Amino acid sequence: MFDTLEKESLIVEEAHRLYGLLHSVSKTKSAKWAMADCLAAAPYTLAINHFKKEQNAVILAHSYTTPDLVYGVADYRGDSYELALKARDSQADVIVFAGVWFMAETAKIINPSKKVLIPAGRAGCTLADSMTGEDVKKLRALHSGVPALCYINSTAEVKAECDSCVTSGNVFDIAQKMKGNELIFVPDMLMAQNLEAELKRRGTPKKIISSGGSCCVHDKYRPEHVEKLRADYPDIKVVAHPECPIEVCEMCDYVGSTKAMAAYVAGSEAKTFGMLTEFGLVNRMEAEHPDKQFIWPFGVCSYMKKNTLINTWEALVDPRPEQVVEVDAQVAAAAKKSIEKMFELAK
Ligand code: 13P
Ligand code: SF4
Repeated sequence: MFDTLEKESLIVEEAHRLYGLLHSVSKTKSAKWAMADCLAAAPYTLAINHFKKEQNAVILAHSYTTPDLVYGVADYRGDSYELALKARDSQADVIVFAGVWFMAETAKIINPSKKVLIPAGRAGCTLADSMTGEDVKKLRALHSGVPALCYINSTAEVKAECDSCVTSGNVFDIAQKMKGNELIFVPDMLMAQNLEAELKRRGTPKKIISSGGSCCVHDKYRPEHVEKLRADYPDIKVVAHPECPIEVCEMCDYVGSTKAMAAYVAGSEAKTFGMLTEFGLVNRMEAEHPDKQFIWPFGVCSYMKKNTLINTWEALVDPRPEQVVEVDAQVAAAAKKSIEKMFELAK
């Protein structure tokens, strides 16, 4: 393998230099991909696809990562739930997860015998980092007998303390299936408010008890942003992620996971969409719907953007310790139950 690596290193030497520039520009709103960017990315794309076959690896990329990963090297792209399913069902020996740590950790928990790699290393998430397993234990002790759900954007320790995990794509349906009129939902306190409101709309109200934090990208949207979008583009349809504040979600035309927002855009007759979500999904929509216009106020997840072609290539050929996902066996076994419960309840 390392003979091949030497050859590939020569090919990518020049691209290494150019690609530093390419990655930094791909994060900004105005950046367009020039021919030079594509030429710089091409050797990495070739090398990654080559090593992927050689190692029987699969690459899963969240839609918030950059288009060079999403379209150049990923075998599957999608939201947290779709990618967790792909990880569960994969026949590959190696799973490379271009996303954030909790996503790669989930893939490892459901595939303990596989090698799971994350190009970005320990890329955090303000939600996952907002709460510990001990915090959940304390909350559950205060509300004994109340079922507890955790958002997949949480650590293995938090998952281990909950009855089931959920994603933005199935949170409302799974919450509806839980027994009783109270429910603990952690660690997204804004999604908790959206959940309580949605359950009420569905005629199955529950008091939601929450703790934790918020997404540093989605918690920045305000009603004024929706008002401005509507004032500037009278026919616009505004879509938002349920990690946004409730007062924003209630003004939008559609609220859903990244997969659900993409499906809404694909199925809508509208031509202009306001995107209250991370820039990567805007990139995807622009690429997949050239006939439609996407207006994006702001919102970049610096954790997701830590994944690059360079560190994906590095992870495949010679991973650094922080790119190799390991989870304590006891915690993993308990967290696995909560993830498997989600697969069962989401059917
Ligand atoms: P999705 O599962 O909707 O893709 O959400 C993941 C996420 O981190 C949103 O910020
Ligand atoms: Fe976490 Fe927000 Fe980034 Fe999603 S966009 S990974 S919730 S910080």
